[in-house]
Amino acid sequence: MSAAMKDRYGRKIDYLRISVTDRCNLRCRYCMPQEGVSAWKPGQILSFEEIEEITRAAVRLGVRKVRLTGGEPLVRRGILELCRRLAAVPGIQDLSMTTNGTLLSGMADQLYQSGIRRINISLDTMNREKYQEMTRGGNLDDAVMGIFAAARAGMNPVKINTVLIRGFNDDEIRTMAELTRRAPVQLRFIELMPIGHDQELGKRGWMPCRTVLEQLPGLTPVPSGGGVAEMYRLPGCRGLIGLIRPVSCRFCGSCSRLRLTSDGYLKPCLHGDDEISVRGFHGQELEEKILEAAARKPACHGDLTERAVQLRRDMNQIGG
Ligand code: GTP
Ligand code: 5AD
Ligand code: SF4
Repeated sequence: MSAAMKDRYGRKIDYLRISVTDRCNLRCRYCMPQEGVSAWKPGQILSFEEIEEITRAAVRLGVRKVRLTGGEPLVRRGILELCRRLAAVPGIQDLSMTTNGTLLSGMADQLYQSGIRRINISLDTMNREKYQEMTRGGNLDDAVMGIFAAARAGMNPVKINTVLIRGFNDDEIRTMAELTRRAPVQLRFIELMPIGHDQELGKRGWMPCRTVLEQLPGLTPVPSGGGVAEMYRLPGCRGLIGLIRPVSCRFCGSCSRLRLTSDGYLKPCLHGDDEISVRGFHGQELEEKILEAAARKPACHGDLTERAVQLRRDMNQIGG
């Protein structure tokens, strides 16, 4: 196995996030528009062979963590086969998935058997009406059943992603945090990022993670384990609470990620339009493209609070 891939700033790049589809069975307001979702022509989406080839090349260059995202990864036909293929790639130490959880209850066991050993699930509210409102039609019970099914299947850890939205779930911070009392889950509050079509919601709904610290004064810091979240525990609780602060850019300095879009581009940074097409390249040429993407990683994204430029892609076309 080769030495670790580094970017211009000396950051080790060992984490590949693969968006396997931009389609989703939900329509979260901060993530994608109601209508006008891209209809890829046949062949425009990377095949499993292509995804595996790109992943193998990235692993040769030093990638050790692979996360499957979407859109919603579980709507991609044959997803279990892709998981099995990637799980069989020597050198991948951590294969995980980020999902909205609503299709998970019937698939969690098979996902585990196919090599997915930990899972992150989006859940922004515990209120049925609000869930339906924010997801434009989703059913809260499906997501909750998905979370239980993931834990029962042996996924460890199970992380719950809660995007903080002013006027929507700021009154639920304590209720959500209570989920960690008996369940050994990691509940992570995420600052809303103004990405894609709905810059308006991104600005109007933004609130700082600091609010969580203010509302939960009992939070005690625990070691973060090197991810994007700062971790805390509430007294007497089995689970952990995390804060993810992309807007105040707390973690660019330790960024380890490249992102592969479902139509075959590597994105050096979530918050930039820079993309490198990796489709149709093989062997050493493909490796050079991946190294180029790492070399084009910026030191950090610009100011997200004042950003005027609209990114080309919505979040569902990037995968978070
Ligand atoms: P693990 O640490 O491997 O469990 O995954 P993760 O927390 O990086 O992945 P997940 O898909 O659950 O992402 C959680 C949130 O962090 C999402 O809102 C992502 O958009 C955000 N996020 C993840 N990586 C980055 C990053 O490099 N930059 C920014 N700005 N946000 C990120
Ligand atoms: N800001 C912050 N987090 C977001 N996610 C999706 N869109 C946004 C946004 N605009 C989160 C989802 C999912 C993860 C991949 O990214 O909730 O858990
Ligand atoms: Fe990495 Fe860009 Fe995210 Fe910063 S904003 S952590 S550079 S992907």
